Amino acid sequence: MTATPVLHLEKLTKDYGSVRAVDGLDLDVYPGECFGFLGPNGAGKTTTIGMILGLLWPTRGRVEVFGQEVTPMRTAALRQVGALVGAPGFYPYLSGRANLRLLARLYPQVGAARIDEVLALVGLDASAARRKVKTYSTGMKQRLGLAAALLHEPKLLILDEPTNGLDPIGMAEMRRLLRELAAQGVTIFLSSHLLHEVEQICDRVAILHRGRIVAQGPVAELLAQRRDLEEVFMAVVREPEAARG
Ligand SMILES: Nc1ncnc2c1ncn2[C@@H]1O[C@H](COP(=O)(O)OP(=O)(O)OP(=O)(O)O)[C@@H](O)[C@H]1O
Ligand SMILES: [Mg+2]
Repeated sequence: MTATPVLHLEKLTKDYGSVRAVDGLDLDVYPGECFGFLGPNGAGKTTTIGMILGLLWPTRGRVEVFGQEVTPMRTAALRQVGALVGAPGFYPYLSGRANLRLLARLYPQVGAARIDEVLALVGLDASAARRKVKTYSTGMKQRLGLAAALLHEPKLLILDEPTNGLDPIGMAEMRRLLRELAAQGVTIFLSSHLLHEVEQICDRVAILHRGRIVAQGPVAELLAQRRDLEEVFMAVVREPEAARG
């Protein structure tokens, strides 16, 4: 591909003391892609996302977003990025809409109309938006989190396990939403260990294991030789582990 990558990781490495959590990642995500970042627990997904978002210093290597380097001291490129990492934090005694209004103050271009727009987009209706966040279900909080991430119309959306804690209906809705955003041209970087979910949403995936990419490619290509992504995943993640005893 010749387009400038939206996200470029180069030899990205992170050590926590003597633990190497992320080990020399090279990765490019291109405009309009939905990229799945897969891996078992502890593979290094959240650590990688922390470095992408300028929340953690890489031990080595670099992150570029829209061609600009990101570090905890240099986060200008993140203005075009929206993120949903972990359970989003909101003021529990304020309504969903009031929480969004507070966040909107960070962005001069975001007004009441955009707040209505994102609420509609994530499927929080007027009565839900009026309720205090402490009364929200996990699924509603997650939707509000996505609404918050979308407020400033980001061109790149970074999601770390966005369906964690959602029931099957909530998961299906999140999938539908992500597909809709992808169709609108938003580039999506989605970390998950839910293979079926990623298989349904993403164009391309990388599978991370012990901080390294052990498989990467278009979903269709990875599936050409295997029944589903689970089989691909097990082949690259479980067998080496079994071999180690
Ligand atoms: N703050 C920290 N201090 C020390 N070690 C850490 C820290 N954060 C993560 N680790 C270790 O780094 C490795 C990668 O963790 P990370 O949370 O990035 O994995 P993950 O792929 O997001 O896992 P999960 O699917 O469970 O969310 C693990 O071995 C973890 O124990
Ligand atoms: Mg994680």
